[in-house]
Amino acid sequence: MHSGRHLVNLALIGFMGTGKTSAGRLVAELLHFDFLDTDDLIQTRTGRTIADIFAKNGEAAFRALERDVVVELAGRTKTVISTGGGLPANLENLASLKTHALVVCLWASPERIWERVRNQSHRPLLHDPDPQQKIRELLEQRAPFYRQADVLIRTDERSAREVAQQVVLQFKQR
Ligand code: S3P
Repeated sequence: MHSGRHLVNLALIGFMGTGKTSAGRLVAELLHFDFLDTDDLIQTRTGRTIADIFAKNGEAAFRALERDVVVELAGRTKTVISTGGGLPANLENLASLKTHALVVCLWASPERIWERVRNQSHRPLLHDPDPQQKIRELLEQRAPFYRQADVLIRTDERSAREVAQQVVLQFKQR
């Protein structure tokens, strides 16, 4: 089906609050893969929080750091990669991930996303006077990119474990 692709990794893409990190950790456990989160990698590399990078250097600087990380990921094997919500909105990032990873998108409704993120404060893009509207807008802008994933999994009615089991099933079928 994916001739020419060597799917040695698994990448989870999707909006903030769709459970990429929690499901991703479980998937890594189930597959006996390493787990890596692009935001964590950026924070470790720079010694700064994502919020601080956005505040002091702006979103464009953060996106440049994301692109550097994506290029490096091509050297990984047996890794579950959880990506920042905006990372696949750059088509080069998405294309690069697809060369080595099965790209799985976790999808949730704006309402469910809001429920999941409303008590968290570390996401600069949601520091907005109307975060619910911001979620709807960003989700609409990004949907065309998220839809380019190899697999789309709805997470609204599923626990992290159920999502992880679905992801593993899809990976094993490739
Ligand atoms: C972002 C999502 C965040 C983080 C940054 C920007 C986005 O990651 O990369 O705050 O543009 O959607 P999560 O999806 O892990 O929250």
